[in-house]
Amino acid sequence: MYEKCKTRIKNDLTAILSKNRYTHVLGVAAAARELAERYGSDLDKAELAGLLHDSAKELKLSEMQQLAERSFGDQLPPEITAVGSLLHGYAAVTIAKEKYNVHDADILAAIAHHTTGALHMSVLEKIVFLADYIEKSRNFNGVQRLREMAVKNLDQAVLYGFDLTISHLLEQRKQIYVGTVRFRNSLIEYMEKCNRECR
Ligand SMILES: [Fe+2]
Ligand SMILES: [Fe+2]
Repeated sequence: MYEKCKTRIKNDLTAILSKNRYTHVLGVAAAARELAERYGSDLDKAELAGLLHDSAKELKLSEMQQLAERSFGDQLPPEITAVGSLLHGYAAVTIAKEKYNVHDADILAAIAHHTTGALHMSVLEKIVFLADYIEKSRNFNGVQRLREMAVKNLDQAVLYGFDLTISHLLEQRKQIYVGTVRFRNSLIEYMEKCNRECR
């Protein structure tokens, strides 16, 4: 499924993305597919979301804003629309829809939220969020532990991903998007509820 679409996306991405970014994108698509297999999610949807997740990453901020506006109108907070590193996933949703005719809500949500996270993330959203951290070309403090966690417990690994991002931003004395804290809290709440109900 989606084979023609995937080939077309890969051809387009080789032309618009830097070599390193394209390598990263292929890594995310492969890691997302592996995680989907492990956690019983749709393999093709995971791979497709992985291929498209950074398709807007190297555009200018103004271009990202125009793209995101077409899918989200004024629903996104200024903390996201002003920052390319947060906005590019939302912009990529419009590329997925308009350029590749991808309208599956699960795929689009996974693309949109791959950097920020979201409230009540689906399994596919968690998979793409995590694949972005652990794909094979990534190399940062904590990545090996995160890879090990990713194959054992999806929620624990996503939580650790949030922790790593927040720790990194604190160390760099950079702003932390408030949504990231809220989404991390909601994940913890969900995990605690699961633990209580599984006892
Ligand atoms: Fe990204
Ligand atoms: Fe990425």
